[in-house]
Amino acid sequence: MRAARFHRFGSPEVLQFDTVPWPFPARDEVLIRVAASSVNGTDLRLRAGGLGLIGASQLPFTPGFDVSGEVVDIGPQVTAFRPGDRVYALLGHRGGGAAEDVIVSQRRVAIAPTQVPLVEAAAVPLSGLTALQALRGPVRVGRGTRVLVYGAAGGIGAFAVRLARLFGAHVTGVARPEKLAYVEALGADAARSSAEVSLETTDERWDVILDTPPALRFHEARQALTAHGVLVSTRPFPSTPSELLGALRSTGPRFAAVRTAERGLDLAFLTRLIDSGELTIPLDRLFSLEQIREAHAYLEGPDVRGKVVVTVSGDQESGLRRG
Ligand SMILES: NC(=O)c1ccc[n+]([C@@H]2O[C@H](COP(=O)([O-])OP(=O)(O)OC[C@H]3O[C@@H](n4cnc5c(N)ncnc54)[C@H](OP(=O)(O)O)[C@@H]3O)[C@@H](O)[C@H]2O)c1
Repeated sequence: MRAARFHRFGSPEVLQFDTVPWPFPARDEVLIRVAASSVNGTDLRLRAGGLGLIGASQLPFTPGFDVSGEVVDIGPQVTAFRPGDRVYALLGHRGGGAAEDVIVSQRRVAIAPTQVPLVEAAAVPLSGLTALQALRGPVRVGRGTRVLVYGAAGGIGAFAVRLARLFGAHVTGVARPEKLAYVEALGADAARSSAEVSLETTDERWDVILDTPPALRFHEARQALTAHGVLVSTRPFPSTPSELLGALRSTGPRFAAVRTAERGLDLAFLTRLIDSGELTIPLDRLFSLEQIREAHAYLEGPDVRGKVVVTVSGDQESGLRRG
């Protein structure tokens, strides 16, 4: 089968197409014919050699951490899915989504929403789950919670703005000045330019500051947190002594690192919100698999608003779908 892979770390140009053996599902694994796979900040950082999650011994590497598609085969222990099911899945750090087929454990898979095209559903698993778990993990965001979303026009940020509003929070979104209209259109109560917001000097206070890029340090954000406020970071571990102390505290302003978990129940919850029309997928642009270099370069560039998706076997029509 065809897979987009990189054999060395670097710019989007390191992505190339290889023919690789068809995968075969064992045990509790499901074989998915990929309709589409989204491009996430994680793809960019791994491809560039950052994050330290994959070493040279794991090259060549197929990016793509979430997919939508159709189940075409199942391992002997699979009970939850059958060939023909329309599904979406969070793949985990092995990636593999930018290929014609992918193998994934059934616990990472959920039936896809029925009310949106399958290729659009690929935008949901990693960003949607990370946003949901950030808002419903370290602290339960609900009616009246004051939430600041940093990087509000990004993949996780756009989902976080929409979900936090849905949970009844008062949401401030922070992004570049040229993206503020988009952040307002997502539903944020207030949109602020990243150049304008200084968390160290502001008089405003938030119960949750969700740092999606991640770009903030706990000691910078602490001043802007309420007495029991939490800085929730997509950095998977505390990275300074003050963050470590902040993570160990049970009272006062705290630090929490979010690590996305493949909870099928959470994905099913997002599916219900999408199918009921309460949650709209913040989709920006579709690219074909052949355009994966352009898709990576686009997500690295200044224009992106929301999610970028690469279509593999699904609807091949690429272009802007901003919503
Ligand atoms: N811990 C976990 O389990 C986990 C899970 C998923 C993702 N992540 C991490 O989460 C991060 C974000 O992922 P994503 O998919 O949302 O990426 P994304 O779609 O590229 O969005 C990142 C957003 O952050 C903004 N941004 C970047 N640097 C900024 C800065 N210094 N100040 C303010 N805003 C800034 C970007 O805005 P501009 O483009 O306008 O600059 C962009 O809107 C990635 O680093 C990824 O590795 C962690």
